[in-house]
Amino acid sequence: VLTDRRTRLLPLPVSARHGWDTTRLADAVRTHGARIAYLVPDFQNPTGAHMDATTRAQVARLPLTVIADETMRDLDLRTPPGSEPHLAGPGVIQIGSASKTVWSGLRVGWIRAGADLVRDLRGNPLQAQLSPPPLEQLIACELLGDGLDEVLTDRRTRLRAQRDHLAALLADTGWTHDLADGGLSLWLHLGTDTKATDLAARAARRGLALTPGPLFAADRATLAHHLRLPSTATPDVLTRAVRLLRESL
Ligand SMILES: Cc1ncc(COP(=O)(O)O)c(C=O)c1O
Repeated sequence: VLTDRRTRLLPLPVSARHGWDTTRLADAVRTHGARIAYLVPDFQNPTGAHMDATTRAQVARLPLTVIADETMRDLDLRTPPGSEPHLAGPGVIQIGSASKTVWSGLRVGWIRAGADLVRDLRGNPLQAQLSPPPLEQLIACELLGDGLDEVLTDRRTRLRAQRDHLAALLADTGWTHDLADGGLSLWLHLGTDTKATDLAARAARRGLALTPGPLFAADRATLAHHLRLPSTATPDVLTRAVRLLRESL
């Protein structure tokens, strides 16, 4: 969407180990006049990176609008879950979705922002087209109420087991990754000899659909040796998927 609008996109490197480069973010504002940052501070898709409290405060102080995507926030797989603050401040717009925590078929999301912006958005004619049907909204309200803790506990238990199963399957492949503290995927580094786009294409011919790194890059070119493996499937499906991936090498 942003590319179609000829928006100038500046990539900001993120890794599970080193987090976000705030110096580069500040430089994007100062030198390139960046006005909006889209960040996933909690278990970023695809790296699983998690922003510490100091970085959140630094980012919130920058003179730009920050869209903090909190879609993964409740998918904290640490025991006990962490207690990092929300990325919050006058310039921050928080967005979330029920599709990752509850069910991917429930396409209900939300925006938490200042009253003026919320009023403008409600008055925008696109609002009606983008809103999911009332029945789905009511179902989401029900699920996000008192029963949410139970849903989340079950979801986290499954995701933790699936993530660990996937990591074990990959242990002797020579590919590397950092075990994410939360979220839905494992961010695999294939090494410099293997191009993720080629491997994903070969895997697709065997019936295994995976998203190669460049699709997550603002320039669609970097991250050439990374592949995202979702840990959302059941252990037996993950076992089959890794077998197909290895056969696709
Ligand atoms: C960080 C993040 N935000 C938002 C979305 C989209 O969520 P939805 O399914 O509600 O469109 C995704 C989907 O992968 C995501 O990873």
